[in-house]
Amino acid sequence: MNVAIIVWSETGKTMLLAEMARDKLTAAGHQVVLTRLQTTATFDAKHNLPEKDIKFSNLPDISNADRVVIGGPVWAFRPCATVKKAVSELGAQLKGKTVLIFVTHAFPWAWLTGTSSANTLRRMAADQGAKILPGVVLSGSQKKDQSKYPTAAEKICALLG
Ligand SMILES: Cc1cc2nc3c(=O)[nH]c(=O)nc-3n(C[C@H](O)[C@H](O)[C@H](O)COP(=O)(O)O)c2cc1C
Repeated sequence: MNVAIIVWSETGKTMLLAEMARDKLTAAGHQVVLTRLQTTATFDAKHNLPEKDIKFSNLPDISNADRVVIGGPVWAFRPCATVKKAVSELGAQLKGKTVLIFVTHAFPWAWLTGTSSANTLRRMAADQGAKILPGVVLSGSQKKDQSKYPTAAEKICALLG
């Protein structure tokens, strides 16, 4: 199947998980296009632009994708504005698509901002007419022990079917 993985990642944790999922999917024979979103104006922890001022220079065309995976970090107890903006910008392109949302976050437990952030994004994609798969949450993203990453990547691949 054709899989589009779209992430925004400031410090590389979300990207790391996306790369692991891509590699596993590719090894299983799927075609995967991974896009790390770039903003036209600087957006980071020091330049936390409101959603309306965020614009992407490389939002991909997902018309050929059988599965769409969208990932990003939790910021201040909710999904980072870039990821919300990406779901909004993809908009009608998500209609009828099977979509999996994943988030990475620093707190050690998914119930502490991870699950709620993933669910916010899942609801947004559902409102665009997407078929929503269960979300994947990687907690404790900044820990030195990165053993959770391959497990989360495996979960993403398994959920995509
Ligand atoms: C401004 C800011 C706010 C954050 N707020 C939260 C939060 O509310 N809960 C949490 O668990 N992690 C929070 N984090 C940590 C990030 O979610 C975590 O480090 C994430 O994995 C970073 O992903 P990235 O490397 O793809 O940018 C925050 C990070 C930043 C920079």
